[in-house]
Amino acid sequence: MTTYRRIVLAARPEGAVKPEHFRLEERPIPAVPDGHLLVRNRFMSLDPYMRGAMNDRKSYRQPQAIGETMVGGTVGEVIESRHPKFKVGDVVVGGFGWQEIGLSDGGGGLRRVDASRVPMQAFLGVAGMPGVTAWVGLNRIIAPKAGETVVVSAASGAVGSVVGQLAKAHGCRVVGVAGGAAKCATVVDEFGFDACVDYKAGRLEADLAAATPDGIDGYFENVGGAVLDAVLARMNAFGRIAVCGLIAGYNDEPIPVHQFRSVLTNRLKIQGFIVSEVPDAWPPALAELAAKVADGSLKYKETVARGIASAPAAFIGLLRGENLGKQLVSLD
Ligand SMILES: NC(=O)c1ccc[n+]([C@@H]2O[C@H](COP(=O)([O-])OP(=O)(O)OC[C@H]3O[C@@H](n4cnc5c(N)ncnc54)[C@H](OP(=O)(O)O)[C@@H]3O)[C@@H](O)[C@H]2O)c1
Repeated sequence: MTTYRRIVLAARPEGAVKPEHFRLEERPIPAVPDGHLLVRNRFMSLDPYMRGAMNDRKSYRQPQAIGETMVGGTVGEVIESRHPKFKVGDVVVGGFGWQEIGLSDGGGGLRRVDASRVPMQAFLGVAGMPGVTAWVGLNRIIAPKAGETVVVSAASGAVGSVVGQLAKAHGCRVVGVAGGAAKCATVVDEFGFDACVDYKAGRLEADLAAATPDGIDGYFENVGGAVLDAVLARMNAFGRIAVCGLIAGYNDEPIPVHQFRSVLTNRLKIQGFIVSEVPDAWPPALAELAAKVADGSLKYKETVARGIASAPAAFIGLLRGENLGKQLVSLD
């Protein structure tokens, strides 16, 4: 193998993302200088935040540069090492982006993982960034107490499915919101939520009221829009809302909020957060999540696209809700 493939941002989208916003390129595999290592990426992570990175506007992160490799998390194996701390065969999680190969000096957050008890791709999902995101928003912001009702949107997804299972372990009544009957069935039957509301069924307010007879104490927000309004209207006094994501607006749609008065009348605490800005949470969260995956008490689902050329379509599908659980691209 002398060349590898990567996907670069070809143009910035206005509104919905389309295949022409990406370009597949073939490049020579670089030589490995002293103090560096070469990684063969086995899985790429596709995440909603990548949509925001494709825009050129003020946000919590730098915009993705045109003509550069799409940003993103990866897991793979070291295939050549001239670095004292890594050897050939090590499994490493890195941020090499949408490409088959990664060259590293060992910095930039690259870390070796133990893939003997947890499949390597789980370190991009349930036992990786999305899992830690769930852990931070739930434990640090919602801080649920046994007997409380916790609601999470995008409940069948990488983050939402973990939020619900962790909240269940705290002794809460846990209600998911997801798109479609099949996703809702998975949320209840496989992830063990007490109920799940299908927001696409056209009865959002009534179904949420039926699923939350004692109101809502904690809300883990992943989507915004109509779901946020329906939840705000059912919040209990001194409820907490962790604002993790607003995917309903990622294609630049404005997200009006009609029930904001609930913040005052119910004395709500609302806090947004970015998981990379909570470094002290990562070690305890990763340890707890990996242990629960290994002992089978934390369930997860994956949707896996095959081959790097499939990444743009898989990413567009993620933004349309076509994934169930963590969206990955396998590079084998
Ligand atoms: N703050 C942080 O540090 C941080 C870190 C990681 C992730 N996040 C956020 O967490 C959220 C979940 O991320 P994830 O990686 O777990 O993705 P995911 O839930 O696995 O996939 C995204 C899901 O969002 C739902 N969705 C898409 N468009 C929607 C729309 N217009 N209205 C309502 N729901 C829509 C879809 O589920 P349905 O079919 O059920 O609608 C889709 O499957 C995202 O908002 C993401 O940006 C934040």
